[in-house]
Amino acid sequence: MGGLKVEFTIIFILGFFSMISLNLGQPNEYPIVDYDPDKIVSQEGLALLFERWIEKHEKVYTSSEEKEKRFKIFQSNLAYVIDWNSKRKPSDHRVGLNQFSDMSFDEFSEIYLSKLNLEEDILEARAETVNLTCSYPSSVDWRNKGVVTPIKNQGSCGSCWAFSATGAMEGINAKVTKKLVSLSEQQLVDCDKKNNGCASGSYDRAFQWVIKNKGIATEAQYPYLGRKATCRTKVNKAVTIDGYKRVARNEKSLLGAVAQQPVSAGILVLKDFAMFRGSGIYKGRNCPTNSYNTTANHAVLIVGYGTSKDGTDYWIVKNSWGTKWGNSGYVKIARNHKLRNGVCNINVWASFPTKRTHIQRKGLTEGSVASL
Ligand SMILES: *[C@@H]1O[C@H](CO)[C@@H](O)[C@H](O)[C@H]1NC(C)=O
Ligand SMILES: *[C@@H]1O[C@H](CO)[C@@H](O)[C@H](O)[C@H]1NC(C)=O
Repeated sequence: MGGLKVEFTIIFILGFFSMISLNLGQPNEYPIVDYDPDKIVSQEGLALLFERWIEKHEKVYTSSEEKEKRFKIFQSNLAYVIDWNSKRKPSDHRVGLNQFSDMSFDEFSEIYLSKLNLEEDILEARAETVNLTCSYPSSVDWRNKGVVTPIKNQGSCGSCWAFSATGAMEGINAKVTKKLVSLSEQQLVDCDKKNNGCASGSYDRAFQWVIKNKGIATEAQYPYLGRKATCRTKVNKAVTIDGYKRVARNEKSLLGAVAQQPVSAGILVLKDFAMFRGSGIYKGRNCPTNSYNTTANHAVLIVGYGTSKDGTDYWIVKNSWGTKWGNSGYVKIARNHKLRNGVCNINVWASFPTKRTHIQRKGLTEGSVASL
């Protein structure tokens, strides 16, 4: 993917390899970020890098043909990383190798993306859409307020919608009850028949299911398997929600919602997002600019917002691809963007669950918050 020729010349320094060696013991990914175009690395160097990558990610290939094929794709992804990072503007994010680096973007998309059913859902859901406009704190990070569980990993199952939904419910539940309880994605994957398990789904329908079911099990009671299994019915309904609301499609409303609690959102994932790494801010250089394009193919959880030292406003986004992706599982995405739909349509599909004893934030004007 990415229009890259498989045939290419990889050019970078030996120091780069020593840097990789130094980083092998660390939890973070290889920082393929610096290279010297004057030094050429041999094919053996590449093979060694691939072996280290295999070891680090505990990959198992069933045949030498398979391994050879994966090595080719790995090289193509490495070329993409080097190319992107060398051409990036200083303010652009970096990309790097991660656990997906032996897959083409098409293969990756097949498993992980287009797993959202939001368009038809909006017609059925009839949830109230709320405009939340007021003045809010200049930054919010729900991770520091004990309402966000650690990064989870959906594995090779297209269940992003379930992870986004549990994250939002964990958030509101912790806010209301002062207890952070990790909730079961597997129960949603197995039991929510209006969603399609590992094939696709929507967080709004997941909220609907939990409301109808009068609760959802905890992660501990109903742990994640990463595949669809038979719905277990004899489990506690540990956490409840009362309803959910859609956020009006404007950035001010999204800000208001995130100031209030962690919020589920859809996003259009492109290759440079899939390979995002580091602490930079994702600015979505290749995101659609046409506001009629509201396509999203992945669900995430917005857990805060802020402004960087250089003045770039961003969202703090929790993903469900494990801690090896992005910035320990998180990504900052630019906000206050000139695009009406936000970076890669992040403003378009947001929604959040409600819980009755929710304490209304001071400063919200009556009417603008409906029954929050
Ligand atoms: C939210 O506010 C915008 C701007 O004032 C308005 O155009 C839109 O119709 C409102 N949406 C809802 C759902 O109230
Ligand atoms: C929106 O843009 C993306 C990326 O450019 C494209 O893949 C998708 O087909 C577009 N969707 C629509 C409805 O035009």
